[in-house]
Amino acid sequence: MTATATDLRLPPGPAERHTLNADPASLAVMTRLAAEYGDLSCVWSADRPHPSLFLNDPDHIRQVLVGNYENYVKGVGFERVRMLMGNGIITSDGEHWRRQRTLIQPGFTRGSVTRLSGRVLDHNLELVESWRGLADRGETLNVTTAMSHYGLEVILRAIFSVDLPRLVAGANPFAFLAQDPTRDIRTVLKVRELGRVIHDCVVARRASGERPHDFLSLMLDARDRRTGAGMTDGEILDELKTLIVAGHETSAGTLNWCWYLLSHHPEVEQRLLQEIRSALPGAGFSFEQLMGLEYMARVLKETLRLYPPVWLFSRRAVGPDRIGGYDVPAGAHIFISPYLLHRNPRFWEDPERFDPDRFAGPQGEAREKAAFIPFSAGARRCAGEYFAFVEMNMHLALLLPRYRLSCVDQAPMDIDPAINLRSRSGIMMAVAHRPRENPAP
Ligand code: HEM
Repeated sequence: MTATATDLRLPPGPAERHTLNADPASLAVMTRLAAEYGDLSCVWSADRPHPSLFLNDPDHIRQVLVGNYENYVKGVGFERVRMLMGNGIITSDGEHWRRQRTLIQPGFTRGSVTRLSGRVLDHNLELVESWRGLADRGETLNVTTAMSHYGLEVILRAIFSVDLPRLVAGANPFAFLAQDPTRDIRTVLKVRELGRVIHDCVVARRASGERPHDFLSLMLDARDRRTGAGMTDGEILDELKTLIVAGHETSAGTLNWCWYLLSHHPEVEQRLLQEIRSALPGAGFSFEQLMGLEYMARVLKETLRLYPPVWLFSRRAVGPDRIGGYDVPAGAHIFISPYLLHRNPRFWEDPERFDPDRFAGPQGEAREKAAFIPFSAGARRCAGEYFAFVEMNMHLALLLPRYRLSCVDQAPMDIDPAINLRSRSGIMMAVAHRPRENPAP
């Protein structure tokens, strides 16, 4: 006999129906669920035959992402992402995912990212020059768009390196990704067209035998240890689309909110500035010095706590499970929101306050381990986490000591919880030269 919905002991939830998705209405519903039913609740949807469980307790989340992760596959919403990126490492499951992750992982090791960091540095040095003109003229900058362009340029250089100037000559075929944050069917069609440009580049690089250190070369040379087989051009294309889309919006979003928060918290900005100036004196700082900036790490983590770019992710239960004493039937939808977990007052005191020192010391580490998941957790944890910190550290370390950015509008900026957590509109900031105390790095 199979269990019916009435036999099951499901978590508590409202009688009315809700369809949870990555949208503002769902954030409102989940906020209400947490307030009314606690950290584990259940809603039914008119168009989904299986229940949706909303998890807001770290132990339950860990069970899905780490302990029993093999029972869960990527859930609703990922089909939209799949239309955009193809069947790459973020959207795939099972054997295909396992193989791709093993093949791609070497590109994300600290050694590999350290070698890629020179390209990130070059771009930041260019920004130092171009922002000088803005500061000379006292102009304002749409930081949201600027960070989108930054994130895109960095990931494109890390993927294509020597081939990039040729790919973007004339009308830059990638530019729309940074210019327009909408991710609708028109974007899918444009990304499909872009696929042709990328595919031609993959074929040409494979034929040339040239292998500069970049993600493309690493993918072309990656071999399955058991079979010796490499990735097909089609597989590489899907992985590159994945890296371009997933790799630029997330770090760009974090830097966007970070500039905003620094402008509203001058005491934090001063401390960060002080750290950069004393730890990285002069132009010749080392990569270890850059990545050793402790206060920088806290500022970025606190930004990610308040504004996790991936604010919601979903899973689907393959087989039955039990969570927190309740049944999880096969097919159940699971929703996990880093945004709401990071503001859960059971784990974060005065959660709305921007306070990088929450992450200081052993207590901070314990809190981080328990209830901080901007990069997810377990086997499907973000592969690009270290890369992201390198590009964010590098950007702030080079730009902050030279330029002071202040929000033109002092009113708080609203969030726009779509696929990624964006600011409701572009954040406009005035750019000014910062008086130098020490030579900037
Ligand atoms: C602040 C920046 C970033 C954040 C907050 C972030 C967040 C995430 C999250 C939450 C996931 C897991 C989604 C899920 O489990 O459903 C993920 C996966 C992934 N991210 Fe990131 N990401 C960031 C930057 C990057 C960058 C820069 C890259 C590439 C250079 C990247 C590459 C990936 C890849 C390849 C995966 C798939 C991992 C897998 O499923 O095996 N991410 N990211």
